[in-house]
Amino acid sequence: MANRIPDELIDQIREANNIVDVISEHVQLKRAGGNFKGPCPFHQEKTPSFNVNPARQIYHCFGCGVGGNVITFLMEYEKIGFMDALRELAHRAGITLPDRGSDRTGAEDDPAVVANQMALAFYRSCLDGEGGAEARDYVKERDLGPDVVSTFAIGYAPAGWDNLLSAARRKGIATSALLGAGLIVERDGGGFYDRFRQRLIFPLLSSGNRAIGFGGRAFGDQEPKYLNSPETRLYRKGYYLYGLSQARQAIRLSREAILVEGYMDLLSLYQVGFHNVVASAGTALTNEQGRTIAKYADKVFIAYDGDKAGILAATRAAETLIQLGLKVRVAAFPDGADPDSYVREFGPDALRDLLTSSQDFIDFYVSLNPTDSPDDREGAARSLIETVVGIEDSLKAELMLEKIATALSLRPAVVARVYERRRAERQLRGRAAGRARGGEEKQIHGRTSGDIRHGEAADRDTTGAHYAAQKGLLGLLLAGGEGAEYVRSHISASEFTNPDIRTLVERILAGSTSESQVDIAALIDPEDDSVPAVLLTELTVSESSQRDGSRLCDDYIGVIRKTQIEGRIRDVDKEIRAAELTGDERRATEAVVRRQELAQELSALSSDR
Ligand code: UTP
Ligand code: MN
Repeated sequence: MANRIPDELIDQIREANNIVDVISEHVQLKRAGGNFKGPCPFHQEKTPSFNVNPARQIYHCFGCGVGGNVITFLMEYEKIGFMDALRELAHRAGITLPDRGSDRTGAEDDPAVVANQMALAFYRSCLDGEGGAEARDYVKERDLGPDVVSTFAIGYAPAGWDNLLSAARRKGIATSALLGAGLIVERDGGGFYDRFRQRLIFPLLSSGNRAIGFGGRAFGDQEPKYLNSPETRLYRKGYYLYGLSQARQAIRLSREAILVEGYMDLLSLYQVGFHNVVASAGTALTNEQGRTIAKYADKVFIAYDGDKAGILAATRAAETLIQLGLKVRVAAFPDGADPDSYVREFGPDALRDLLTSSQDFIDFYVSLNPTDSPDDREGAARSLIETVVGIEDSLKAELMLEKIATALSLRPAVVARVYERRRAERQLRGRAAGRARGGEEKQIHGRTSGDIRHGEAADRDTTGAHYAAQKGLLGLLLAGGEGAEYVRSHISASEFTNPDIRTLVERILAGSTSESQVDIAALIDPEDDSVPAVLLTELTVSESSQRDGSRLCDDYIGVIRKTQIEGRIRDVDKEIRAAELTGDERRATEAVVRRQELAQELSALSSDR
């Protein structure tokens, strides 16, 4: 596995190259207020709309909607890859890039990173060490060979309360660093103890092959079976895919990924030659994890456990992936089996056969759900159509609709009609939000609702007041100071529904304190486009004077809460209609009461304003 350049070194190289100097070598820039301006090198234009912001070390073009930091500039300007751009900038600043394989030379001064790296080395050495027999036996029992143990840096946390703690002390690592990394736990009565004790350790590696967290398997049937690091600034569960760092290249080359649930499933498959495998490990597959897969793969084989819970989880994962535009196959394992046990019992060829013969989502769904009575068929059809409504590619949608009709013996025209109606309802929702705001927002980064690719269309709508409010709050957060402080204390990331904005808000809230301005150039990751860089640069370059931050914030939050309640009212309306249809009077009455409560909340909100 080729090692990557450590993040610290990337930061160092970025910070050593002033963006104004670098861009000036290619573009004639003129000072304009706090920014520099010039003709955009990425599109033809008469009046300059290309901005460079020296304070935040970013660029943004309002004409063609590109933006980024000094690394992405070079990548885009010279049409080169990340490593070449990095090499050029390192050379320019007189920094030596380490050779491949010795990538631990960067200045690792982030305490949590240092603590994790220390723990990684400690657990590794314990597995090889004198006291490691128990763990080595377990490794053997689970058929894990030396290659996979080394590739995945598997380790051992010995029994005892303070093995890691004492080892860390000897190395001069602060308790606060261990605590921040989630490696130790504070006792109620004071003092600390190791989080991971007597477990086989699966490090959660970043794309730079550093540990950002750990999972630990008990050797017997102690509870919990798996213990995982808590979420930290470095490790965010819903974004992390176990094994991605090892699988990325294989997925990129084959454009296919195998998705499994567990650590052991992944390791077993990897070991017998399936290198394009990732695991959601300990969470239902999130949209963000799905989007990461979609960057490298076109097709995903879902290989979840054969039990009831696994089938349900596979169904949800399939829906998520399909809506992201991926082709999906669902492998059916016998009840009680999982990919690990299956491949160990029947071998890799049997697994390959199982994957190749796996069903597409519709066949999978129909094979699992009863479709005998008309009611069953209706339920299945509606549920499947709902998944298709979330697909933006009309050709993909069309083909799926055809399949739904065939699979459920329905007339294609009927299926199409239901689909069209659901689709129209969605679009109407998006447009109503736009009208409420009174006027169309300028489409700065050229994204219109027509070319949205991912996810829930309403959440991705960028024309309405709801989007503008979310964007406004993000702008306040980015600007720092009192406005940002106010936002932090008045709203949480989960209230943001636009996925791009929510991703950014989560990262900002997780990554910095309120006193300082957010380091935007550092937030932009040229290798990870799940961070919508252009949104960041746009908001920063157009930074208006945020005079009355708290007042603005209140207004924005008002819009967001109002939209939340309106959404809930729509859901209740649906519920009322459904209850009336089935003649369930109690459910209908309850829903009507809830609707009244919501309406009251809504009007209270309006009169506050
Ligand atoms: P499973 O219970 O299916 O375990 O959990 P497994 O992968 O088959 O593991 P073995 O073969 O019994 O060792 C699937 C995944 O869910 C998460 C882990 O990531 C696990 O790999 N999990 C499970 C937890 O985080 N905590 C638990 O207590 C159990
Ligand atoms: Mn298992």
